[in-house]
Amino acid sequence: MATTFAEAEDRVAVSHAARIDHVSKSFAGPTGQQLVLDDISLDVAPGEFVTLLGASGCGKSTLLNLVAGLDRPTVGSIETPGGRPALMFQEHALFPWLTAGKNIELALRLRGVAKNERRGEAERLLELVRLSGAYGKRVHELSGGMRQRVALARALAQDSDLLLMDEPFAALDAITRDVLHDELTRIWRETKLSVLFVTHNVREAVRLAERVVLLSSRPGRIARQWEIGIPHPRRIEDAAVAELSVEITEELRGEIRRHGQH
Ligand SMILES: Nc1ncnc2c1ncn2[C@@H]1O[C@H](COP(=O)(O)OP(=O)(O)OP(=O)(O)O)[C@@H](O)[C@H]1O
Ligand SMILES: [Mg+2]
Repeated sequence: MATTFAEAEDRVAVSHAARIDHVSKSFAGPTGQQLVLDDISLDVAPGEFVTLLGASGCGKSTLLNLVAGLDRPTVGSIETPGGRPALMFQEHALFPWLTAGKNIELALRLRGVAKNERRGEAERLLELVRLSGAYGKRVHELSGGMRQRVALARALAQDSDLLLMDEPFAALDAITRDVLHDELTRIWRETKLSVLFVTHNVREAVRLAERVVLLSSRPGRIARQWEIGIPHPRRIEDAAVAELSVEITEELRGEIRRHGQH
């Protein structure tokens, strides 16, 4: 079903799309418990686009998995009032034996969409990610960028208020990534979704987000946050994007220096 204006308005009525409240996470390691995330508190407002930025191994995916409900915090709590968030990873994780359309329909079926509505809805979602005509294509017939578009359409098929993205464009070439940045920004603005987007690419973080949250390493803590007021449409090569990226990169370098190379 298409998101109606009233539904989009409803999304704005709750006070947060995700609340991460004093969350710590430890894993059992060879030398005892290893503290990976330390006392993270972060709210994602309804309709907000937040990027989590940090060095490799700082705990970004761990935090995203906690918000997704795939794992539980050692300490603290996580709320996602809109229900189970939609997830998108670096690898598309599409089923290769199904067509693009059927991959999306599977998500619709799991959501409880009636059988006779699924095809139309899958086609609408493919159109939203600008992939009309790909309904009958199998995964191996699609380029990397097209696969990520289908994966995005499948995530949107869950009709969740909150979309969690873990480096979804990291494996794509620069031009394809740039096009998908535009598409994601457009879709985010059209649907009023809340997005929590993980990346270690500073320019990508600044290009996309309303707020960038920098995590320190070992353990992961919130080191600093930036509100990104740069108006849309943004380009990765915009002077304002470049300037802020330099500042954030300096901070990120400082974090890596403090905690060693990964
Ligand atoms: N299930 C687990 N069991 C034990 N250790 C884990 C587990 N999951 C993650 N870790 C450890 O937690 C730390 C953070 O891992 P995580 O994958 O969250 O980092 P990341 O910031 O996403 O890194 P990258 O940018 O490379 O994806 C790493 O030291 C990792 O080895
Ligand atoms: Mg990761």
